[in-house]
Amino acid sequence: DPRALVIVAAGSGTRLGYGIPKAAVPLAGRSILSRALDAVTAELGLGLLVVVVPPDPSAEATRQQLVAEANAVEATGVRVVVVSGGSTRASSVNEGLAAVQEHARHHDWSAERTTVLIHDAARPLTPPEVFQRVLQAVESGAEAVVPAVPVTDTIKQVSAAGTDASAELEIVGSTPARSQLRAVQTPQGFTLDFLERALEHTMGLSDEETAALTDEAMIAEHLGVEVAVVAGHPRALKITTETDLLTATALLQETPM
Ligand code: C5P
Repeated sequence: DPRALVIVAAGSGTRLGYGIPKAAVPLAGRSILSRALDAVTAELGLGLLVVVVPPDPSAEATRQQLVAEANAVEATGVRVVVVSGGSTRASSVNEGLAAVQEHARHHDWSAERTTVLIHDAARPLTPPEVFQRVLQAVESGAEAVVPAVPVTDTIKQVSAAGTDASAELEIVGSTPARSQLRAVQTPQGFTLDFLERALEHTMGLSDEETAALTDEAMIAEHLGVEVAVVAGHPRALKITTETDLLTATALLQETPM
């Protein structure tokens, strides 16, 4: 059955503070995107790789570098399409999905039988086994699949401290049982059919509601579609801050990929 992978790499990386898009920030000598692309091996059996790069023309040299790194994957025999992202992760995913849909039309891929993985470039060390687990779960019949790991912190739901407007405090509302909580990673896997329904659903939402959707699995929850959970991996950590970059660098030095 057809398999496609969308890697979203259009984020600005503001929180990392390098002044260039996050995907272009060096991680032990190579860009975060190029490290993420190391996961794209023949074993994944991909018919299509879509890489979503920053749309910002002010970072044109960086953009060209990312485009070249993405296109280099064609040497492994995988068809690569590079598209420009949007201002939110969700809009970047939609640009990537449009490229998958176009490819699927041209190649007569059935939407029910096509698996689409959506992956953050910001998780460059995600091991191949996680990709395999997600692919397998979708191909065994799940419409939506997320890789997840147990959380180590106690997580509390908080809200603003009520009536006292001068206090910028938050107060604890509740504490969900930690044993039931998971931190969710990528790649997340879906049938193309589900993603097309999800797209229709989100077109009917307000901007505010759309902004609150931080991943595609949330749309499945809204639509009452079951989301299956498979084991994630500590190496699939997301690089957001300098600390994350240091952790990833240390992991690479320990066991180079
Ligand atoms: O910002 P954050 O770390 O949550 O982004 C997660 C992933 O989404 C990253 O790989 C980032 O490049 C991507 N993204 C995107 N377009 C945006 C924002 C984020 O492709 N506008």
